[in-house]
Amino acid sequence: MQHHQVTFHVQPGGTLQGEARVPGDKSISHRSIMLGSLAEGVTRVSGFLQAEDCLSTMKAFQAMGVRIEGPADGCVTIHGVGLHGLQAPAQELYLGNSGTSMRLLSGLLAGQPFDSVLTGDPSLSKRPMKRVTDPLRQMGAHIDTTEKGTSPLRIHGGTPLKGIHYDMPVASAQVKSCLLLAGLYAEGRTSVREPAPTRDHTERMLRGFGYAVQREGEVVSLASGGRLTACDVDVPSDISSAAFFMVGAAIAPGADVTLQHVGINPTRTGVIDILRLMGADIEILNAREAGGEPVADIRIRASHLRGIEIPEALVPLAIDEFPVLFVAAACAEGETRLTGAEELRVKESDRIQVMADGLRVLGVDATPTPDGMLLRGGPMAGGEVESHGDHRIAMAFSIAGLRAQGPITIRDCANVNTSFPTFVEIARRLGLSIESDGRPSA
Ligand code: S3P
Repeated sequence: MQHHQVTFHVQPGGTLQGEARVPGDKSISHRSIMLGSLAEGVTRVSGFLQAEDCLSTMKAFQAMGVRIEGPADGCVTIHGVGLHGLQAPAQELYLGNSGTSMRLLSGLLAGQPFDSVLTGDPSLSKRPMKRVTDPLRQMGAHIDTTEKGTSPLRIHGGTPLKGIHYDMPVASAQVKSCLLLAGLYAEGRTSVREPAPTRDHTERMLRGFGYAVQREGEVVSLASGGRLTACDVDVPSDISSAAFFMVGAAIAPGADVTLQHVGINPTRTGVIDILRLMGADIEILNAREAGGEPVADIRIRASHLRGIEIPEALVPLAIDEFPVLFVAAACAEGETRLTGAEELRVKESDRIQVMADGLRVLGVDATPTPDGMLLRGGPMAGGEVESHGDHRIAMAFSIAGLRAQGPITIRDCANVNTSFPTFVEIARRLGLSIESDGRPSA
């Protein structure tokens, strides 16, 4: 596969102004392919995220015999094969950088009559998979991993699954979703207790496809034996992508940005709550519903941010937004403290260490802790930082340019394509001085 070394160059200062519609939600796009493939009938998806992670999921289902047309202009047509219609893939399923693809597929594939092997890029191959293989084994699944519990995952099909109740040790939507998908194929009921609320797109979309899912307090459950019926899915813009411009507008003097049609599912809006606690000026406009998910336009204007203690209950609701929230904290007056966020260490990179390292290059007083970070706001210099191939780190440091006193160079940015391929284009249109130089290499 051809690989591109991509470097971002950001000129300091400037502001953000105008309106933008950022691309579709990554979590919802993945699930639309999965449930559309397992449904009976033809599912039409609009607003689909045409980015590498979601294309990995799409290719995996195509490799299992599902006819999928698109994506073109965000539209995908999925000819569902029903819950029992997937075919054995001829090869290993390569999932690139996508943790969501691997964790959700592991549950789904554990319930199939055929064997499969899931692989990924060097980052994905380091990420913990025991969190899914442990409970799946309790359900009767037969899965081999490396000694460290990482991928490749070799899933032996044809093993009957039985429903279990699982108390999740970490608040993870990927683990919850993995078990619910396995539960579609398990004898009896499968139920999962979450220690704190996590994104609920899987439950919502299962219901949208006509599958009964129960929620009682912290426990979500379903029984096997149902069927999925094709439906149309309208994917809202990804609040996790919008978050870069929300923070950008909050920190750039004179900024005024409206982000359109953003998903504001309450299990995803921690970034809004945290920014508001810091004093950000955020308006939710024209709140409405689209395809079973709440959406709105979000207007953000520059304001004076103050450091805060981030409430731990908000951590799972803003889990992907911390790289850019650390940038907000670096621009705030006083100290910001994050705790209870050890999960950040096992994302596409160790987001605590990598962000602290980069912020320190820029002269920010940032101290990593085992489960979070302590930051003191102050002036930010320019410099050269490493994204370690993590899309959200690359985009977060781009936004820092709005308040830096010198140019910022960000290395290893190719993976911005995993979630937000049009980031540079939209950022430039809103007013960020950013350039991307991509040098193709072998
Ligand atoms: C996701 C869940 C979260 C999130 C990831 C997408 C999902 O991961 O970080 O980007 O789509 O279910 P965890 O379940 O590991 O918290």
